[in-house]
Amino acid sequence: MIRLLYISSTREPHSRARLDNILSVSRRNNVAADITGLLIAGGNRFLQVLEGPEARVQETFERIRFDERHFAPVVLKREAVEERLFGKWAMGFQPGGALNRTSTMTDEVAGLVAPIDDPLLKAYFEGFARRHAA
Ligand SMILES: Cc1cc2nc3c(=O)[nH]c(=O)nc-3n(C[C@H](O)[C@H](O)[C@H](O)COP(=O)(O)O)c2cc1C
Repeated sequence: MIRLLYISSTREPHSRARLDNILSVSRRNNVAADITGLLIAGGNRFLQVLEGPEARVQETFERIRFDERHFAPVVLKREAVEERLFGKWAMGFQPGGALNRTSTMTDEVAGLVAPIDDPLLKAYFEGFARRHAA
């Protein structure tokens, strides 16, 4: 199994209708593909985690990459894992925290994940921030 984290940008502010459409299609497809994860939307960014069987995650990410509702996805982390961290959600959703336009990628990720309460999930993103800064 793998877990993949990427960040991408949008040209327009996030709209409820667009997010609802992305989430409903994602949940339907991800259940069928045994994929779980979390989508965070804040400012003009998406931050998304996908976890599941490697081939399934890879083919799903290939579709997502070329989706015109966002652009320039950057993979921040891709790792082999034994257990799911986001197993509760076919695709969970979390509004991101406040973003500062001039911040570094590490600060941006920290801002986006700031509203997450679960300490385990928080540690996953903070682990990225530490490694990325090092
Ligand atoms: C930010 C973002 C996240 C997405 N996440 C997923 C996802 O987790 N799973 C998925 O199947 N599609 C996801 N999509 C949608 C895909 O890009 C694509 O539109 C969809 O998979 C096509 O499904 P369909 O062939 O069943 O219509 C996402 C799109 C965006 C913009």
